[in-house]
Amino acid sequence: MVRETWATRAGFILAAVGSAVGLGNIWRFPFITGQEGGAAFLLVYLGFVALIGFPAILVEFVIGRYTKLNPVGAIRELGSGAWKYVGWLFVVTGFVILSYYSVVAGWFLRYTLIGITDGYALAGPGEAEALFGGVATGLDSLLFHAVFMALVIGIIAAGVRQGIEVGVKLMVPAIIALLLGLAAYGSTLDASSAAYGYYLSPDFGVIAANWQSILPAAAGQAFFTLSLGMGVMITYASYLGEDRNLASDAGVIVTLDTLIAVIVGFVVFPFLFAAGLDPGAGGAGEIFVSLTSAFAEISGGRILGIVFFGMVGIAALSSAISILEVLVSYLIDELDVARVPAAAAVGVAIFLLGVPVTVDLIFLDLFDKLADGVLLVLGSLLLALFVGWVVPDVAREELSKGISGLGGLGDAWIWVVRIPIVIVVLVSLYLGVVDYAGFLTGDFADWLAAR
Ligand code: PHE
Repeated sequence: MVRETWATRAGFILAAVGSAVGLGNIWRFPFITGQEGGAAFLLVYLGFVALIGFPAILVEFVIGRYTKLNPVGAIRELGSGAWKYVGWLFVVTGFVILSYYSVVAGWFLRYTLIGITDGYALAGPGEAEALFGGVATGLDSLLFHAVFMALVIGIIAAGVRQGIEVGVKLMVPAIIALLLGLAAYGSTLDASSAAYGYYLSPDFGVIAANWQSILPAAAGQAFFTLSLGMGVMITYASYLGEDRNLASDAGVIVTLDTLIAVIVGFVVFPFLFAAGLDPGAGGAGEIFVSLTSAFAEISGGRILGIVFFGMVGIAALSSAISILEVLVSYLIDELDVARVPAAAAVGVAIFLLGVPVTVDLIFLDLFDKLADGVLLVLGSLLLALFVGWVVPDVAREELSKGISGLGGLGDAWIWVVRIPIVIVVLVSLYLGVVDYAGFLTGDFADWLAAR
């Protein structure tokens, strides 16, 4: 079978941006920023994206373009000994992440529909919470999880050019246009100046006092938002036909993803301030509860809500397809399965894995903390060790293709990957494992005991 490639450079860049921009930017970022103290967190996060995120995305790009294989096959081809099996981690991670990502994305679809049919006029936070309860679990949740997975399967079954590339060329511009429209509206709200102050003037005292929690949160967010640690960027780079400048592509992708996350803050914080809500109150459900309360308060809230929730749904879709593509590319390359049955079979399996999340939200934590705090970070660590210490020469050589006069910058890149990235990721992994162990022996054990 001839391996597919992107039709255009824009197709590759938009697909990577589509993958990067997702629930992480819109759902996770503003609330982590809120929890970690606003502008202080933003500053640290921006530093991490530039110093760690950018070199780390290049790690995945060179592996993908060099081998032109799915992540499992790519590492097997390049590595020896135990490295041959490392790619399997990405398959496990992909299954786990997409299973709950799809459930949460389904909630956004449901909320978009609620706006269209009923609006968000709710009598106070009690009702907003009851509404979320009804959407998050039960039949509704199951149904919208199924609808979302069906969309993901449909796009991936259509292929790299006809499915992913066509899809992202529609979705990514739509996300940007809707977001800019919402931010422009947010700037007209009276509360906007207070919101901007909170968001944009860092209090260095906050960084000094809370660095133990700000640093790992910022590092984790930087990896998650760039879709690093599970082979998405390896897979997308494996469809590159010619040797282009990977560093400039990575620069465009990282910049767009970061800009979009930052602009989301210009949307969410004015809305929350306008409704008099605390941006620091996070949590999966809090976001829906506080935003619907905000949309119930401010004028034009119904339209804003439909646009906002719909935009998040689109952003989640353009990320979810990248996760399924990792798994499907594995089946196509390694087991010679045709694309359509591969997409359908894996998609249905992931749907089934996500079903428990629609029954009880404890499974959302069980999956999310594992994937986000442990598996993705472990994946990033292994990739950094692999490129930095096992195949640095191949990687440097591959990066230099398409970049004239890379010179000493190639060596600098390898050293950033070898030491600073490995240290940051190791610390995050340690904290993630401790947190997950605490969850398993705490909340989860309590939940099991109550059965
Ligand atoms: N980057 C995506 C987001 O911000 C999440 C994601 C992580 C997607 C890992 C693919 C792989 O929502």
